[in-house]
Amino acid sequence: MSPTEEAAGGGGDDYDRLSELKAFDDSKAGVKGLVDAGVTTIPAIFRGHLLQEGPKVSSSSSSSSTSLSIIPVIDLSAADAVAREEVVAQLKAAAETVGFFQLVNHGVPSELLCEMLPSVRRFNEEPHEVKRPYYTRDARRKVRFNSNFDLFQSPAANWRDTLFCEAAPEPPRAEELPVAVRHVMLEYGGAVREVAARVLGLLSEALGLSPGHLAGMGCAEGLSLVCNYYPPCPEPDLTLGCSRHSDPSFLTVLLQDSHAQGGLQALLASRWLDVPPVAGALLVNVGDLLQLVSNGRFKSVEHRVVANRSRDTARVSVACFCNADIARSTRLYGPIAELIAADDSDGAGRALYRNVTVPEFLAHYDKKGLDGRPALHRFQLLQ
Ligand code: OGA
Ligand code: NI
Repeated sequence: MSPTEEAAGGGGDDYDRLSELKAFDDSKAGVKGLVDAGVTTIPAIFRGHLLQEGPKVSSSSSSSSTSLSIIPVIDLSAADAVAREEVVAQLKAAAETVGFFQLVNHGVPSELLCEMLPSVRRFNEEPHEVKRPYYTRDARRKVRFNSNFDLFQSPAANWRDTLFCEAAPEPPRAEELPVAVRHVMLEYGGAVREVAARVLGLLSEALGLSPGHLAGMGCAEGLSLVCNYYPPCPEPDLTLGCSRHSDPSFLTVLLQDSHAQGGLQALLASRWLDVPPVAGALLVNVGDLLQLVSNGRFKSVEHRVVANRSRDTARVSVACFCNADIARSTRLYGPIAELIAADDSDGAGRALYRNVTVPEFLAHYDKKGLDGRPALHRFQLLQ
């Protein structure tokens, strides 16, 4: 498939992109600030997305019912009862093919689910002066608010603002969190970690390993909460809410609101399929690092978010990235030895990826930005 580069309208080279990026960043007001200022066209920095294979940015290629039947709904509570093997088989099939599944009966208390998204909305809709102190790109701060983590790296900016919180292994002090989210963020993160640990146990079994294998490798030591706010966009056909990417995690657990327009799409069989929210469910997907350690058995599937077409309502989501201790981990991650041996008929083994530390992988991911190219390519071994 030869990628075709296509500017999504008008963002040519005839402007001083760096100055405009700096001015936008210096405002510390994010995309919401532009919307509040009443912009009716999107600034050039948000244009020029690379539209590679797949349909145009604006169109969704399938009805939601199609993707619902492709992305399985899995009942986690069944794993504690007689149906453990059945659940392992369902998770294995999902992780090996579509890379996403909707998890129901996951045990996260509904009060937490109900409170998390509105609190993120409240934070983003606070007056500018309240949000401004949190606006930073300083990765040493555990709580960071900014717009486009890759603003200065990516070819085109996204129509979204994000509040990050590194919640594990060492959570921030409560006072470091904005008041709007203080009462729920860390508790929600703790509940998601429990779910992730159970899922990783079942996925270990799906790989033919002991239940503690993936957790024992430290795949769920760390947890970053990525709280996304997608304001209404005046020209949604000319930009994206989030460019195509796969996740820099072992596992991602996503809570998305019931926004009428949805917005999340997964790239499956070269088509962008809508992934609409399922009430009460958590959407789980395989991240790049799990694809790497599973030697390519589990798929980290590319996805994106279209720009919000609503006139007046922002879309909100919270992505929890399960990872090693992203600041301190020195462990080398590579394809799991048992899997390499099993993958090769002569038993000599063939690793598809080289070893990498999590900080090295993340440095590459961040430096590259969301440029449409999978970060894992860098670590692939030529066969
Ligand atoms: C992400 C992501 C999807 C969404 O934050 O990595 O893919 O629906 N988010 O916000
Ligand atoms: Ni993602």
